[in-house]
Formats: sequence, structure tokens, C-alpha cells
Amino acid sequence: MENQTESSGRRCRRILLFPLPFQGHINPMLQLGDLLYSKGFSITILHTNFNAPATSNHPHFTFKSVLDNDPQDPRFLELPSQGIAAAMSRLRFFNQFGADSLRLELELLLASSEKDGPISCLITDALCHFTQSVADSLHLPRLVLRTSSLFCLVIYASIPLLDDRGYFKLGDTHLEEQVEEFSLLKVKDILKIGIKNKEDSMVMLTAMLKQTKASSGIIWNSFKELEEPELKTVLRDFPIPSFLVPFPKHFPASSSSLLEQDRTFFPWLNNQPLNSVLYVSFGSMIQVDEKDFLEIANGLVDSKQSFLWAVRPGFVKGSSWLELLPDGFLGERGRVVKWAPQQEVLAHDATGAFWTHNGWNSTLESICEGVPMICSPIWGDQPLNARYVSEALRVGVHLEYGWQREKIANAIRRVMVDEDIRERARVLKEKVDVSLTNSGSSYQSLESLIDYISSI
Ligand code: UDX
Repeated sequence: MENQTESSGRRCRRILLFPLPFQGHINPMLQLGDLLYSKGFSITILHTNFNAPATSNHPHFTFKSVLDNDPQDPRFLELPSQGIAAAMSRLRFFNQFGADSLRLELELLLASSEKDGPISCLITDALCHFTQSVADSLHLPRLVLRTSSLFCLVIYASIPLLDDRGYFKLGDTHLEEQVEEFSLLKVKDILKIGIKNKEDSMVMLTAMLKQTKASSGIIWNSFKELEEPELKTVLRDFPIPSFLVPFPKHFPASSSSLLEQDRTFFPWLNNQPLNSVLYVSFGSMIQVDEKDFLEIANGLVDSKQSFLWAVRPGFVKGSSWLELLPDGFLGERGRVVKWAPQQEVLAHDATGAFWTHNGWNSTLESICEGVPMICSPIWGDQPLNARYVSEALRVGVHLEYGWQREKIANAIRRVMVDEDIRERARVLKEKVDVSLTNSGSSYQSLESLIDYISSI
């Protein structure tokens, strides 16, 4: 049991958290903030004005805007705001130009530490690699939050090797071949990571890996039993402390949604039989073209299963929302919202499966609720997560040959009735639950993290 004096003694120590300003990165960082706050630390969130978090949902945090405080700066006006391009260009921008302005803000915060309490450390998204040299110059320990899986980092760390071996030059006839060095993967998975503009993305990746190694520790949104072999590799190749905490288990609902969550479907969902509804969402970033959108819609209708579909405005390129679908097209079985309280939907008894793009948050949220998946990865870590889910953990059906209505309908029917997949998903949920009990791995990892931060 935590000693009360110990926890209240920490309240005067501050931790600075700096998330990358995108939904899949903000959610785990603010959950980490809530966890550290619950353990007695004071929390300051450094955030950009672009995608700024709703401060009113976190009255216990202090917020400080950094990096893009001048709205007239022409360099910001040119950056795209939607989709993967927005994420990549902003990330590149921050890494290239962010150091001086972050240093200035940190100096001010450090100077106020007599009044506001000493600062223990800075925790930033691992992708914001520029923050390591800033932290070093101020003698401030920096930990990183890595928002994807350990498996993903292991593969990312091998990209220079895979590049040397020629994988990125292979043509279309090789896409279905196995990657010799990682038998779980096919060549197309490696290509889908999206190292298109090779030099640029390789520079960013190399810097991320280097500055992660230079940091004081890595915090993962995961748990030991999920990725045990990869944990061994990470501990060998990144010889700094690693802490694995499954955040969704600590927070059953999101408090850091950038879009408004629609809850109007709950009366309908509450009336659906156990495990009968397919929940569909492809995360906060990816976009599809009109043809693919229609295949998805037709596949859903043809499956004759009930579904709840979160269609984010901007999801369909060139469309504002659902205007491509004739009125009533989705039928009586389907409900569509712009943005759902995803974790609550996954935890609902009526939810039988999740058709996902396998962003890591979605993947882990599904695992934490024991919900089987249909995997439709597009980009980045998603193809790696999808292979891990469908072939290593075997809790998902991989839809790996594009969006075709017959294949979609078949995959949906299969995942809804496959009792073996459902049972494996249930066992995995049991493992994460056990890991959180007093002697469990996740419980201990969180305790070690608190001790570690308290000691630096
Ligand atoms: C991006 C990358 O695509 C992903 O691969 C990487 O791991 C993190 O950044 P994103 O598209 O945002 O992720 O997907 P994901 O990681 O799954 O995060 C989406 C978050 O939004 C989840 O926490 C999910 O619960 C939430 N969400 C999604 C909602 O709250 N409501 C919705 O309707 C859809």
C-alpha cells in the first residue's frame, strides 16, 4: 500500500510532459499524466496550439503552450492540417525548428522552480527527438513515451539493415514473400511502413532511435506478457530502463478526445445481444478514396451483421462525411457516428469484434477488453501491429488484400462466429488483468517507474 506521506511528498515535484499533437499520441501521454498525478506528482503539459488538448477536462494539470505561439508565422500557415501528411510535416517541422523555442520555455519553467516546485524530468513523445539535446543542455533528465508496440520499435531499428539487404527496392512481384529476417512479416508490410521519401524519413527514424537510446528511459503503452520476446530484444538493444504500462486498463474512458464524442447510440447498443455488434473505426488520421469507402459500406451491409461505424469527417478524401451514401443505405442494422467513445464501446457487452486500422492505441484498447479484431492496416506501425495481432497473438483476421466488399463481408462473418479467436482474445484479456494485480508485471513496472522518477 502506498504510503500517504510518500505520495504527498511527491506533489511538490513536477513532471513536464510533451505529447506529439495528434490524437493517437495525446491520448496515451495524458493518460500517463493522470497516472503520475495519481501517484502524487504535479503535472505540467507542454502543448502546441495546433490540436491543443481541452484543458477543462484536466483541471489538475498545468498547461503551457510551446513551439507554435505565433499564429502569423508563415511557416505554420503552410502546414497541412489533415491526414498523415499533416502529422509528418509537423513532426519534421518541430524536429527541425523546435529546439530554441522549447529551450526558452524550459528555462523559464526551471527558473520558476523555487516558487512552483522542482522539476523531476521531461517526458516527451519518442518521435520528438529534438527534445533530447534541449534537455541535455539544461541537465534535465528526459524519458520518452513510445506510443506504439515494442515489436514496432524492433522492426524500425532494423530498417537500415533491411534497406541494406535491398527490401525497399523490391518490385511488385515480391510483395507476398516472407521477410527472411522477420518471418512474421511479408515484404509488403515493410514497404507499407511508408519510407517513400527515403532519405528524409530515414534521417528522422535514425534520429528517433539515437535519441531514444540517449534518453533516461522508455515508457511503453503495453504489458510484458503481450510482447515478451520483443522485450528481451529491446532491453538488449536499448540498454536503458523500460517500463510497460497498459494505459487503457487504468482509464476506461478517454478524457483527451480532440473531437466531440457522440453517445446517442448507447440506447440502441444497450438493446443488442451479447457479442453481436461489429465496431468499425480507422483511427484519427488515415483517409480512403471514394471507391474504397463504398466497398467498406457495401461490405458492411452485405455481411448482414449489426455494426457501429465511426466515420471521422475527412475520412473520405474529397467528401465532408457520408454524402456518397444514398439515404437509408446502411439499413436498420447499422449506426454511424462521427466520433465514438471508443473505449466504452469496446468494453460494452454487445460489442463482438472491432474492425480496425491497428493503430497501436486501438489495438491495445481492443486487447484490454478481449475483443477480436479484423485488421486493415494502412501505414506506419499498423501493418506490423496487424501481423502481430493476426499471426503472433492470433486474435484477429487480417484483411490484407485491399478493400473488396465480398472479402470484407466474409471476414466480418468469420470474426463474429469464430470461437477460437474469441477464446484467445479472452485469455489475453485475462493476462493483462493478472498483470495489474499486486505481484503482476504491469503493477510492478508502474511502481518501478514511480521509484525511478522519484530518484532522478
Ligand atoms: C496514429 C497511427 O495511425 C498509429 O499507428 C500510431 O500507433 C499512433 O498514431 P491513430 O490513427 O490516431 O494513430 O490510431 P490509434 O493509435 O488507434 O489512436 C486512435 C485513438 O482515438 C484511440 O485512443 C481511440 O480510442 C480514439 N478514438 C478513435 C476515439 O476515441 N473515437 C473514435 O471514434 C475513434
